[in-house]
Amino acid sequence: MVYAAAWQTHQPVGTVVLDLVSKHAPELKHLFVQKSARGAGAGTALCAWTEKRAAQAGFDTLYLSVGVENQAARRLYERLGFTPAGKTTTTTYQYVDDDGQKQWATETDDLFEKTLAG
Ligand SMILES: CC(C)(COP(=O)(O)OP(=O)(O)OC[C@H]1O[C@@H](n2cnc3c(N)ncnc32)[C@H](O)[C@@H]1OP(=O)(O)O)[C@@H](O)C(=O)NCCC(=O)NCCS
Repeated sequence: MVYAAAWQTHQPVGTVVLDLVSKHAPELKHLFVQKSARGAGAGTALCAWTEKRAAQAGFDTLYLSVGVENQAARRLYERLGFTPAGKTTTTTYQYVDDDGQKQWATETDDLFEKTLAG
């Protein structure tokens, strides 16, 4: 796993994980940019960094999963050249919400892929 953060001056505003070991490796995971910092290129920069790091590790394709209803993220990934890989999965998982309460959620995700520049 490789963890990266995006900074605006002295503030961390976004994070991403590059998973080099699991089933769809290399996979870009957990891309998140703080609400107040969105639309300024941090998400684009984190994706570009992840692509470069995966290519440096010797991979020629990068994968990611994106929610079928996550329009902001889908637009970003499509603009960056990711395309659907034809695999859709539905997962039920537990998470801790903003009030510290455990919640269950079910999400359907499409697998996307991008061929990396040599
Ligand atoms: C998806 C997400 C990571 C995007 O992050 P972001 O930092 O807003 O992404 P960017 O700023 O690079 O791109 C967003 C938009 O801003 C525009 N933009 C980028 N740089 C810009 C700049 N310098 N000036 C003006 N607009 C800019 C882009 O054109 C893009 O437009 P689009 O919405 O048509 O694609 C963010 O919305 C997020 O954290 N969402 C919640 C978590 C999530 O859904 N993560 C993805 C899981 S798969």
